[in-house]
Amino acid sequence: MTSIKNIAVLTSGGDAPGMNAAIRAVVRTGLYNGLQVFGIRRGYEGMVHGDIFPMDAKSVANIIQRGGTILKTARSESFRTPEGRRQAWDHLKAHGIDGLVAIGGDGTFTGAAQFAQEYDLPIVGIPGTIDNDLMGTDFTIGYDTAVNTAIDAVDKIRDTAESHDRLFVVEVMGRDSGLIALRTGISIGAEAVLIPEIKVDYEAMMDRLDRSRKNKSSRIVIVAEGDEAGGGFAVADRIKARFPHYDVRVSILGHIQRGGRPTCQDRVLASRLGVGAVAGLLAGRKNEMAGSIHGQVEFISFKNAVKHIGTINENLVRIVEILAL
Ligand code: F6P
Repeated sequence: MTSIKNIAVLTSGGDAPGMNAAIRAVVRTGLYNGLQVFGIRRGYEGMVHGDIFPMDAKSVANIIQRGGTILKTARSESFRTPEGRRQAWDHLKAHGIDGLVAIGGDGTFTGAAQFAQEYDLPIVGIPGTIDNDLMGTDFTIGYDTAVNTAIDAVDKIRDTAESHDRLFVVEVMGRDSGLIALRTGISIGAEAVLIPEIKVDYEAMMDRLDRSRKNKSSRIVIVAEGDEAGGGFAVADRIKARFPHYDVRVSILGHIQRGGRPTCQDRVLASRLGVGAVAGLLAGRKNEMAGSIHGQVEFISFKNAVKHIGTINENLVRIVEILAL
C-alpha cells in the first residue's frame, strides 16, 4: 500500500459516453478508501489553470446514465509546453494531490507519460474514447455506445435507402481508427467498409457493389472519416464516376456518435475500471492504464497503451466481404 491521501480525477480529449460512470466510480472508490478526492475541470487545461475542486459522494449522484462528462474536457495546448506542465504541477501541490486518475485516449496518456517523466506523481489512466484504439484493453469506454448509436442511425438510413433503391455512403467517426466503421458495418449488413488501417482495392469494391445489385435494392458503404480516400463525399464521388446511373446519397453521422446514454456494457466497464484504477493507485501502480482483458482488470504502461498497431482483426474485414453477396 502507498501513503496516497488525496487523489484527483480528470477527463481529457474527446468525450465518450460512460466517462461520467468512470468519474463516479473513481470518486466513490476514493471516498470508500478514506481518500480526499478532487475533480479537475477541462482536463489538462484545468490542471494548468488550477480549476480544481473537492468532490464528494453527492457530486457524482445521478450521473451514471448521462453522456458527456460533468468534468468537461479539452484538448490542451498549454499542457504541451514545459511552462504549462510546471504550472499544473504547482496547482496539484497546492492542493496536496498525490495521485491522479486520467480518463481519456491516446493524447491523454501521451500527456500523462510526459508529465510523469518530469514530476513525481503517480498517474493511472482509464481508457475513455469512442475510437477503441488503445492497446491493453479489449474495449474502451464509449465505444460500445458509439457503435450502437451508429447502428441505430444506419438502420434508419437503410429504410429510406430501400424505399428509393439508393446507395448510401455513411461516414462514421474515427480519424485514425476504423474500429467503429468495421463493427457498425458488420452489424448493419454493409456492402463495403472502408477504414484507414487497410488499403482499399477500389476495383474489387466496385465489382462487389455492382454484383450485389442482383440481390438487393439498397446498398450501404460505411466509411471511417480517416479513410485514405478522404471520407464519405470522396468515396461517393468515386462510386458515381464509375456508375453514373446509381442513385447515391451521403450521410455523415458526426458527433452524434459521441453523445447519448451509455450502454450497459459501457457503464459496467467504466465502473470496473474506475474501481480498478483507484485500487491500482493505492497498490503503488503508476504511469499505467487500467484496461479490461477477458473480463479482468489489467495494467499496461502508457507508452504501450498508445501504440495503435495491428488492432484490426482482418477476419472481420473478410466477414463483411463474404456476407455482402
Ligand atoms: O477521438 C474521438 C474522436 O471522436 C474521433 O473519432 C474523431 O476523429 C475526433 O474525436 C473528433 O474530434 P473533435 O471533436 O475534437 O473534432
